[in-house]
Amino acid sequence: MYSNIFDTHAHYDDSRFDEDRDRLLTSLPAKGVSHIVNCGCDLKSSLSTLALSEKYDFIYAALGVHAHEAEEATEEDLQKIAELYKNKKVAAVGEIGLDYHYDFSPRERQIEIFERQIKLANELDLPVIVHDREAHEDTMNLLKKHKPKGVVHCFSGSAEMAKEIIKLGMYIGMGGAITFKNAVKPVEVAKILPLDRLLLETDAPYMTPVPFRGTRCDSAHIAYTAQKIAEIKGMDIQELIDICNENAKRLFKI
Ligand code: NI
Repeated sequence: MYSNIFDTHAHYDDSRFDEDRDRLLTSLPAKGVSHIVNCGCDLKSSLSTLALSEKYDFIYAALGVHAHEAEEATEEDLQKIAELYKNKKVAAVGEIGLDYHYDFSPRERQIEIFERQIKLANELDLPVIVHDREAHEDTMNLLKKHKPKGVVHCFSGSAEMAKEIIKLGMYIGMGGAITFKNAVKPVEVAKILPLDRLLLETDAPYMTPVPFRGTRCDSAHIAYTAQKIAEIKGMDIQELIDICNENAKRLFKI
């Protein structure tokens, strides 16, 4: 049993939590979870994210338009989300980024929406939570161009790319993927990553770590991700969780 778990990326507004959301969230502090950043993906989920952050002390909000929703998002949506950032529970602009795996939105539109939100984050002095799936080159170009504070979540790039991100002063988010049998790159990244640049996350309800892979993920599952990274780093699991908690507080100014 661990304490001080900071889940820097979750989606508790997801319909997979509709049946037992409050029961589950209420149970998490007793399972060692101290902080959660819930991420919105469009106007609707940004509003429900904000509502969760207002209901639960330990939940903070990241608001934004995800790559998948870039095409659907209207100017009015973006305007409405922009007005929400002044709420005191808002910790970041996110989840924003590029996804060339699914390509649910045209790439030009993804880039446009991503870049606009990075610029907004810089203006508001908020960190960004970046989604990058099979879009490493364009993601890096935009991060280098605008140099936001923030984290590349569920990091899937190489150790070389991780070094570039660290050089920009950003953080790397690692979740359940590092526990998967076929995880090669995440293990290499964990090996070279300085401890003060690592954030733990779930992406709940997705990316459940082994041995629960395939079931619905929640923030308490971070223990298995932390266990794997601590093993790679040759360190104590609770110590790793504590360091990651400090890192997240520093980035999100909590
Ligand atoms: Ni996510």
